[in-house]
Amino acid sequence: MKSFAPVLLLTSTLVSASVFTVGVGKDETTGKLGIGFDPSVIVPHAGDTVTFVFQSGEHSVVQSSFEHPCTPSGNFDSGVQTVSSSTLVDASGLPEVTLTINDTQPLWFFDQAGGDCAKGGVLAMNPTADQTSAAFKDNAAKDTTSSTPTSASASGSVSQTLTSSTSTTESASTISNAASNTAVDKLWSFGILLALVNWL
Ligand SMILES: *[C@@H]1O[C@H](CO)[C@@H](O)[C@H](O)[C@H]1NC(C)=O
Repeated sequence: MKSFAPVLLLTSTLVSASVFTVGVGKDETTGKLGIGFDPSVIVPHAGDTVTFVFQSGEHSVVQSSFEHPCTPSGNFDSGVQTVSSSTLVDASGLPEVTLTINDTQPLWFFDQAGGDCAKGGVLAMNPTADQTSAAFKDNAAKDTTSSTPTSASASGSVSQTLTSSTSTTESASTISNAASNTAVDKLWSFGILLALVNWL
């Protein structure tokens, strides 16, 4: 019987701190891949942890504020997590980022990389009677202040560079068709493009 004591101790330690699992890029009503968080409202206590499980595409969990749900507050940012489009919802081995909750103050988040903040890509933790999750969603729908993803804007500008460089390559090759060393020119353009992308 003596050997039960450590087990009981361990059990009570585990029970006192809860782990909340929140799917990102998963529709909470359908349970399928989609916009937002599943669930979109949680009520954690101090010492609890929230594990964000990234379900699909490109998403990030970024802390914002009740007034400006789609604007980063400069606090928590999970970074952009990318999941292959062929991955099934709740598959094993999905990227996870964990946040520790230190008090019961309301905390507000949005999916910055997902880009659907105004459409409901928001998460409320410990909403209050004054600051409800419904009002938070309303604010998100109206939040027209910059919600340009920080890291996603970096990859956005890379792909823009790629696109414009590709068209430069095309027009360059059209011209050099006449000069008949298209392949070499293409190689050079591609090399410059690669160097540019690396440099960015
Ligand atoms: C709680 O504190 C830890 C350690 O200081 C910090 O990393 C974490 O971001 C805090 N949680 C919140 C929700 O601010």
